[in-house]
Amino acid sequence: MFLFVTLLILFSFMESQSEHLNLVGPEAPLVAVAGEDLVLPCFIRPNTSAVDMTVEWFRLYVDDSLVHLYKDHEDRNEKQAQSYRGRTSVFKEELQKGNASLKLSALRVSDEGEYKCLVDDKSWSDDITVHITVEVLGSHPVITMESYDNSGGINLLCESRGWKPEPEVLWLDREGATLPAEATQTHRDTEGFSVKRRITVYDYSDSNRFYCRLQQKHHMMETEVIINRKVFDTWKWAVGISVSACLIAVGLIVTAVVCYKKELRQVKQNAEQQRQRREDGQQKLRVAVGNYT
Ligand SMILES: *[C@@H]1O[C@H](CO)[C@@H](O)[C@H](O)[C@H]1NC(C)=O
Ligand SMILES: *[C@@H]1O[C@H](CO)[C@@H](O)[C@H](O)[C@H]1NC(C)=O
Repeated sequence: MFLFVTLLILFSFMESQSEHLNLVGPEAPLVAVAGEDLVLPCFIRPNTSAVDMTVEWFRLYVDDSLVHLYKDHEDRNEKQAQSYRGRTSVFKEELQKGNASLKLSALRVSDEGEYKCLVDDKSWSDDITVHITVEVLGSHPVITMESYDNSGGINLLCESRGWKPEPEVLWLDREGATLPAEATQTHRDTEGFSVKRRITVYDYSDSNRFYCRLQQKHHMMETEVIINRKVFDTWKWAVGISVSACLIAVGLIVTAVVCYKKELRQVKQNAEQQRQRREDGQQKLRVAVGNYT
C-alpha cells in the first residue's frame, strides 16, 4: 500500500513536472531561398534536456513523410523520405538544452510545406507545426535598348526569368524614385515566372542612370543602365540622317526618271534612224529595180 501511494505521488509529481513543459516553434512561416540551409526551430520551454526523448520531424499531407528521427540517443533515419537523405540533422549538443531544432541543407522548392516537430517522452509529448516557403531568385535582369521613340526618348526593355513567387518589376531613376512604365508582362513555365517590362526614358542629365529592379517580399535584384546624353543627341542626328536619306532617295528617283526618259528618247531615235535607213535602202532597191525594168 505504501509503495503504491509512493508510486502514485511520484507519478503525479512527474506528471505535474512535465505538464507545464511546452514545445515552442517559430511564430511566423519561415521564408528561405532555394539552395540555402535552413534551421527549423523547435525547443522545449522551460528548457529541459531532450537527450533521452524521441524527436521526430515529419511532413504533413505527404505520403513519404519522415524527415528526421532521433530516438534512443541516435539518429534513426532508415525510413527517412528519399528526398531528405543526407540533408537533415539535429544539433546533438543543443538537445541537452531542450533544443530540438532541425537543420535542413540545400533547400529545394519541393521542401516547401508544413512540418511537424514531435517530441515524445515516456510521460509527456507535444508537437508544433513549422511552415516553410521556398523562394527562388531568378536570373539577373537584362536591359535591352530597343529603339528610339518618336517623342525623343529611348525605349528600354527589362527581362528576367525563373522567379518564384512572381516578382514586382520596377523602373527607377538615379534617386530611386519609380518611373512610369508599361504594364509588366508575366509568363509562367516550369522554371517559374518570367517577366518583361518596357519603359521610354528621356534625357535628364549628362549621364542618365536607370535601374530595373526585381523585387520579392524578402529579396531583390537590380540592373543599372547608363545612357550618355550623346546617345539621346544621336537620336536627333538619326532623325537628320533619315531626313537626308529621304531626300537622297527622292533625288535618285528624279535622276532615274530623267535617265529613263533619256534612254527612251535614244531608243526612239535609234528606231527612227533604222527606219530611215531601211526606207533609204528600199528606195535604192526600187530605183535599181526601176532601172532594170
Ligand atoms: C535554460 O535557459 C536559460 C535562459 O535561456 C539559461 O540561462 C540556462 O542555462 C538554460 N538551462 C539549460 C539547462 O540549458
Ligand atoms: C537551437 O540550436 C540552433 C543551432 O545551434 C540555434 O541556431 C538556435 O538558435 C537554437 N535555438 C534556441 C532556442 O536555443
